Amino acid sequence: MKTIETLEELREQVRAWRVAGERVAFVPTMGNLHAGHLTLIAEARARAQRVVASIFVNPMQFGPAEDLDAYPRTLARDRELLEEAGCDLLFAPNVATVYPRGSEEQTRVEVPGLSDVLCGESRPGHFRGVATVVCKLFNMVQPDVALFGEKDFQQLLVIRRMVEDLAVPVEIVGVPTVRESDGLAMSSRNGYLSPSERARAPALRRVLTQARDALLAGNAAASVEREAENALREAGLTPDYIRVRTTDDLRPATETDRDLVILAAAYLGRARLIDNLRVQSD
Ligand code: PAJ
Repeated sequence: MKTIETLEELREQVRAWRVAGERVAFVPTMGNLHAGHLTLIAEARARAQRVVASIFVNPMQFGPAEDLDAYPRTLARDRELLEEAGCDLLFAPNVATVYPRGSEEQTRVEVPGLSDVLCGESRPGHFRGVATVVCKLFNMVQPDVALFGEKDFQQLLVIRRMVEDLAVPVEIVGVPTVRESDGLAMSSRNGYLSPSERARAPALRRVLTQARDALLAGNAAASVEREAENALREAGLTPDYIRVRTTDDLRPATETDRDLVILAAAYLGRARLIDNLRVQSD
């Protein structure tokens, strides 16, 4: 596997593959890779002859009080994992390659509406940072297909909408959440948890499952949300939100909506954990 840091080398390599008629899949990440990321690489392998991964901890998507500096950077180990997983090229640019004009950059990619609710409410500007960097990375790599985890459900919707609205010529594939054996969604931020916090963390998924069952049993969304929030508190987590929403545009669910997702975010020690669960009623 090649590791490339510059745009020129990246473009040269991807162009050579395209000229040879090879399809290129892309998996953008911020590194500190785990089995969730590697599942995206495996899915990418199944969909294209060539797989490009990127590792870039994107400053624009972190708020001023967030964990940009503390975010785990484990490039050597990540490189080994990507190589084992069959990745062909790692693009690991520095900040100046992605943002050559630094604070002078003016163009932003915004997906208002979808970006302003749930995680967007607690993390103002976060999805602007995500949409902008993903748009830039798409223009740099020019993949045929790109893969994203359903763990970050709102992020996946924001990217799908950005691609649709801007007619970006890339197919977006969502990949189901990979979990630890106790149900906790894998995340680079799980490393922030102390052993006792780690023992409490699976409550997030447990409460989501209970909420789904309560919805399917006919309970109203508002009361399900209220009870779920209490259950999170009782389990020792500090809920940010737990909401029942429509899967296509994250609208609050009404009685006639059938395709729903319950999304949750909760603080546990230094970590902010997120998870979600689809609910399909008939
Ligand atoms: P990061 O958190 O590193 O995640 C990279 C990709 O891995 C995302 O598509 C995310 O949804 C997926 N992922 C993370 N945990 C997962 C899990 N347990 N199961 C399945 N997929 C999982 O998300 C980002 O980086 C950034 O916002 C990025 C899109 C790279 C833009 O900077």
